[in-house]
Amino acid sequence: MSQTVFIQRMVLRNYKSIGHCDIRLLPLTYLVGQNGAGKSNVLDALRFVRDALAGSLDNAINERGGLNEVRRRSSGHPTHFGIRLEFRLRDGREGWYAFEIGAMPGGGYEVRVEECAIGGIRKGPFFRISRGQLRDSSETSFPAVTADRLALVAASGLTAFRPVFDALASMGFYNLNPRLMRELQKPQDGRLLRPAGENLASVVGHLERVAPDQMKKIKEYLQSVAPMVCDVGRKAIGPMETLEFHQEMAGAKHPWKFFANNMSDGTLRALGIMTALLQSNTEYSPALIGIEEPETALHPAASAALREALVDAAGHVQVLVTSHSPDLLDDQSIDADSVLSVVSEGGETKIAQLDEASRKMLHEHLFSAGELLRINQLAPDRQAIEQRPTTQAELFGEARQ
Ligand SMILES: Nc1ncnc2c1ncn2[C@@H]1O[C@H](COP(=O)(O)OP(=O)(O)OP(=O)(O)O)[C@@H](O)[C@H]1O
Ligand SMILES: [Mg+2]
Repeated sequence: MSQTVFIQRMVLRNYKSIGHCDIRLLPLTYLVGQNGAGKSNVLDALRFVRDALAGSLDNAINERGGLNEVRRRSSGHPTHFGIRLEFRLRDGREGWYAFEIGAMPGGGYEVRVEECAIGGIRKGPFFRISRGQLRDSSETSFPAVTADRLALVAASGLTAFRPVFDALASMGFYNLNPRLMRELQKPQDGRLLRPAGENLASVVGHLERVAPDQMKKIKEYLQSVAPMVCDVGRKAIGPMETLEFHQEMAGAKHPWKFFANNMSDGTLRALGIMTALLQSNTEYSPALIGIEEPETALHPAASAALREALVDAAGHVQVLVTSHSPDLLDDQSIDADSVLSVVSEGGETKIAQLDEASRKMLHEHLFSAGELLRINQLAPDRQAIEQRPTTQAELFGEARQ
């Protein structure tokens, strides 16, 4: 199976609880760690980039409560935060996109530096902007830039930067909510599942039309989680729509039909997760999807089916999940590199690959990642955590390793 990695490496500085992190992501990466360790903050950093590009930087900051909530609070009072994403586009070209946002003395914020390069500086399309001024670019004409916006939004009008913009702006993040999935929904085009699954009926309807094979797969996974459910489809109710489930009943000649509002939390969540994962094989594929705790509300016996769906999806889209589930990780074939350990030390989040002892146990199949999680032994590599660069330089310029 082909494997898809869009974001290969992610460097964060002073983003929420994360002082510094430099991590590599695989086609399927699990973020594990205690409550409040900072797992969701890692996903949120990627979501921030998506929000700032697909919407506006102002909205992305404001909906998180303002710059003071986005940059890390600490005794050192950092005034800025930064994100660097090293990517690989679907056409195979590699590059990076990075920015640093800082507080202005009189209030407000500015984009201090923003850089995008595909194929390396002076080898392919690139730009470097600081404080609202274009400093360098491969392009002879470049749209006007200002310090309160990300220039990649304007640069997406140039064909050279469009693929980077499209891939970053199409990343999908899911924290499914059965209550919203139960409500009658207004029909929409259903190309992309919304963050809480609130347009699930439209997406199922869309997949039935454009990708029936994908829909068949989703139903198969759903059935391995909830064996009585034999079918599901979009159902119009007047001007609204919902999902209709068919459920086998002992003694009944025909399956019983239930609308979404009578289905169980676990069934709805499972359908939402499978749809989020497998919608990606259509022409509207996101390049990466992040899912918060996909195991929520699922019986432990459903974990194998969920894991299989995650692995299956990772063949088409990069998948990043947060998880607390030993059952989900209870599989000897999970690669040690695909598990990142997130810990909070003195209120600061540290993220790294697993330490040598944990890796050895996984390699030698002495324990599965799930068993180590259950006994709280998925420790991060100390050396990786303690390697802290002292400057902001690591966010910009060519990759150093
Ligand atoms: N601007 C900030 N500066 C410092 N710390 C912050 C900032 N914003 C949030 N935090 C910290 O981040 C923590 C939450 O992290 P996060 O939501 O990522 O945890 P989590 O690992 O996803 O936990 P859970 O497993 O419970 O979902 C909060 O407890 C808070 O202490
Ligand atoms: Mg969380």
